[in-house]
Amino acid sequence: MAKWWKHSAFYEIYMPSFKDANGDGVGDFAGITSKLDYLKDLGVDGLWLTPFYPSPKVDNGYDISDYYAIDPTYGTMEDFKNFISEAHQRNIRVIIDLVLNHTSSEHQWFQESKSSRNHPKRDWYIWRDEPNNWESFFSGSAWEYDEATGQYYYHAFAKEQVDLNWANPEVQKAMSDVMKFWLEKGVDGFRLDVINFLKVKDTLQDNPYDHEKNEQIHLFDKDQEGILSAIKDIAETVHQYPDKFLVGEVGSEDIEILKRYSGTGKLDVSFNFNIGSISEFDAEKLFSRLVETEEAYESVQMPTLFFSSHDMSRHISRFGGDEERAKLIAALMLTAKGVPFIYQGDEIGMQDWIADDISVMMDVQGRLAFEEAIKAKTKEEALAVANERSRDKSRTPMQWSSDAYAGFSEVRPWITVPDGSSEINVQNQQDNPDSMLSFYKRLLQLRKEHPSLQTGEYEFLRYKDGMISFMRTNEVERTWVALNFSEEVKPLKIEEKVSLLLSNKRMALESETAIVTLPNEALVLKEDSEK
Ligand code: GLC
Repeated sequence: MAKWWKHSAFYEIYMPSFKDANGDGVGDFAGITSKLDYLKDLGVDGLWLTPFYPSPKVDNGYDISDYYAIDPTYGTMEDFKNFISEAHQRNIRVIIDLVLNHTSSEHQWFQESKSSRNHPKRDWYIWRDEPNNWESFFSGSAWEYDEATGQYYYHAFAKEQVDLNWANPEVQKAMSDVMKFWLEKGVDGFRLDVINFLKVKDTLQDNPYDHEKNEQIHLFDKDQEGILSAIKDIAETVHQYPDKFLVGEVGSEDIEILKRYSGTGKLDVSFNFNIGSISEFDAEKLFSRLVETEEAYESVQMPTLFFSSHDMSRHISRFGGDEERAKLIAALMLTAKGVPFIYQGDEIGMQDWIADDISVMMDVQGRLAFEEAIKAKTKEEALAVANERSRDKSRTPMQWSSDAYAGFSEVRPWITVPDGSSEINVQNQQDNPDSMLSFYKRLLQLRKEHPSLQTGEYEFLRYKDGMISFMRTNEVERTWVALNFSEEVKPLKIEEKVSLLLSNKRMALESETAIVTLPNEALVLKEDSEK
């Protein structure tokens, strides 16, 4: 039997926005636990939780101040344990987000490190007398001056997220202890945040500049020498525990870089941004990214498939707001080769939210972009720039019902609930067989019934005139998938006798051969002849 994660579909839960149970306007563990039956019924096999550790929440928890506890807004350690056990009882596995690259500036380690140049923890972070030209991925210089000790420290993200020095073995040991702590609490693995950033060029050479794009090329602050050996050590620690899973956020769209990170002894999988971050809808481009991945990966490597997350625009909005197209993307994610990661709310077609005033913008990246833009632009222009950068768009509360605050909370949530929530919500879609939610359920059910859709190889993978089609096969079955992204009827060349497994457009095939696909149809067929 293949490893469990190879035949699992994951679901990302953005902690502050899934379900508030204690009435403070922020999601929590008791809230998630109360929705486990919903998730079971949806048909997902694994959950990825974004960070829930104590944090000043400058970057919504990706700035951890204590790796060994639960932030009180999310509940207690008891609530966490209860959640894990309830999930496991339903055969749902849980992986947790772990930020190994940086800590909060309020973390005890950094407080000690900045206390004096001679402190034994000084070298746990990256301190220099002079900054180089490296830019933060959020905004401005990546170096912050510390008055008290007269040196600069390095931060790839906000200045409150201080980069650890992974060249120091004590840091590695400290993080290995953190991983063991959570593995012993029963988690099934980790989603490793910005994992290709752990090592930076030790000479701190300046980054080159792309004059055409007018931006810095991040050449020496990620994917550096030694990173793979650090990852191998992490994998070794984690895989001392049986059956654990590691997915890494490798921030790159370059398949040659992505492919280095996964495989035997490394990460089990990494996020395929080469596929997932396509910015505008283009079926041919999407197809070429699937092909490049298939060609680059070795047989031990498996891609991941996702098109939305808490860091990006939801694919439904990014690709033009069209529900039919969103269904095609869902069908691709759940039938093509790869481990799927569904982002909360995509299963009901939630749309991006745009802030109409800077005062309601919550995301640090958006706010920093506003501060920079307002120096040269009008308030409206600066807000537009900020909305472009802000990740609030996909972080709004999960829309459960038409009740106040979308049934997410009894009180006003920490972030705005979009206007559309009274129409787009779980309650409205649950009993409607044509809804987005029902379509996701059918797809997830279909994957379970047809293992070729989970672990099968491609017998072929084709593109023609707006249609992506492939056949997935294993020892026992052959499954055809045709995704017609065009507005026209397209013929399918099938000689064998087939039967219909799923379509978003019809209940039955008009013929067993001579099949056509309808505009915007996702069609899944089963070859009837025994293999
Ligand atoms: C990852 C997270 C993102 C966070 C960043 C810094 O990209 O997904 O939300 O801001 O890392 O930790």
